[in-house]
Amino acid sequence: MSVEEMSATAKALFRDGKGLLAMDESNPTCNKRFEKLGIPQTEEYRQKWRQLIVTAPGLSESISGAILYDETIWQKSSDDIPFITILQKNGIVPGIKVDAGAKDFAGHPGEKSTEGLDGLRERLTTYFNFGARFAKWRAVITIGPSIPSIACIDANVTELTLYALLCQEAGLVPIVEPEVLMDGDHTMEKCREVTVQVQNALFEKLTEYGVALEALILKPNMILPGLNCQIQETVDETAEATIATLLRTVPAKVPAVAFLSGGQSAEHATARLAAMNTKYGERVPWAVAFSYSRAIQQKALEIWRGEDSNIAEAQRSLIFYASSNRQARLGREAPAVS
Ligand code: 13P
Repeated sequence: MSVEEMSATAKALFRDGKGLLAMDESNPTCNKRFEKLGIPQTEEYRQKWRQLIVTAPGLSESISGAILYDETIWQKSSDDIPFITILQKNGIVPGIKVDAGAKDFAGHPGEKSTEGLDGLRERLTTYFNFGARFAKWRAVITIGPSIPSIACIDANVTELTLYALLCQEAGLVPIVEPEVLMDGDHTMEKCREVTVQVQNALFEKLTEYGVALEALILKPNMILPGLNCQIQETVDETAEATIATLLRTVPAKVPAVAFLSGGQSAEHATARLAAMNTKYGERVPWAVAFSYSRAIQQKALEIWRGEDSNIAEAQRSLIFYASSNRQARLGREAPAVS
């Protein structure tokens, strides 16, 4: 795959207001969400859940690409059709999470570094041959009294860059996800400061190592106050802060910015995306899009609760949130939230 072909894939993923569905929770994360709702934490139930998603009628009207987890990419529906085939037949491009998770960063209490580079070249080739056309790697940056450290930022952006180089060598569009977590009581200003620092370091490293920026997708956090911060800015204020920050950090060559939802309510994730597109959509060089997991799936999971009789209603909920985010991308106002 040439850089031009990967760039075309990256652009095509965000046509017509569509976006990505992150359905790539690792087994431990998926199990944690199941446990809270009393759903059995087994491969059988994870398969049922992912089948509910990939067979939701009309999913492809809003979703152009789905990020899968290793277990899911090999799974089949109950009538023996590989999930990847169902997605492809519906015009949804399969993608794959390839990191092995954020682990404690040695010598740096409270900080994480992401594992998964060992054997990555071979895994990427296997996924490409099976039909994946893009990949994802998540780095986690925590805000705390004296963190993030320079070392943590450097380790994470280096890992993201080595991953991105290997992806492009294998013909897969890399999604680079440097997530500054919402956990904590930090202000929006602090989130902005750390996000600028991380993204500047990231784009510097990507450029230095020769990653083709036109064939890459950035999956960032929005600029938001910590979940426990006393002051919670309005939708318009967070939209403005996010766009102003990304205009400082993200080169114009990058085709798309696809946000994670990161613990925002589904309504906030949609309203903020709508505000960004309504007010600034025409003025930014990249697509302003979504790559949400919880903001699209969480309500559906709560409806389903592992019961076959709830599948149709859960699918309707999933489609509702997917389609609300497509409307948000198209710059149509979302229902008001403060
Ligand atoms: P959330 O939208 O739930 O933050 O998940 C996005 C994601 O892919 C995290 O890696």
